[in-house]
Amino acid sequence: MSHDCDIDHVVVPGTFDPITYGHIDVVRRARRFCPSVTVGVAASMDKNGSGPVFSLEARVDMAREALDAAGVRDGVDVRPFEGLLVDFCREVGASAVVKGLRATTDFEYELQQADLNCRMAPDIESIFVMSSPEYGYVSSSIVRELASLGGDVSLLVPPCVKRRLHDLYS
Ligand code: PNS
Repeated sequence: MSHDCDIDHVVVPGTFDPITYGHIDVVRRARRFCPSVTVGVAASMDKNGSGPVFSLEARVDMAREALDAAGVRDGVDVRPFEGLLVDFCREVGASAVVKGLRATTDFEYELQQADLNCRMAPDIESIFVMSSPEYGYVSSSIVRELASLGGDVSLLVPPCVKRRLHDLYS
């Protein structure tokens, strides 16, 4: 029995403040099952209600550079967006959102977002990938905290991001 898959373009959204090895892993894995992946860098507030520390332009630049350096290039586009994620999905022609799930602490927030997105746009699917064990503890906020305290972030972010963090906090 043949089966046509109608999801050929997905959005991997996030604040990417900054992009980490965990995010790169999610984009790489999304690309394994989907020919076209748009990484959507959200302009707006982060989930704690405070604004990102890096400008939108810097977050987009870092994401492009980091994915390029990791060899995650073909079929992958990085774009900024403002407003609703579901509107951005429609704008780029994506029919699903892919996000990474780390611990159970991510679950409630992600379920709430997915529920809301589903109410607004039932045609857009939410797909979750479990974070790889080596990145389960990696988050942008941990990276920022570590960098601001002078800790080594080499295991968490690629060199291009490490440089920007150094510039920001030195
Ligand atoms: O990296 P994050 O903070 O987990 O990413 C959250 C993000 C940017 C994916 C989420 O806040 C989002 O989708 N923002 C766009 C606005 C929107 O559509 N919000 C959901 C319905 S109110």
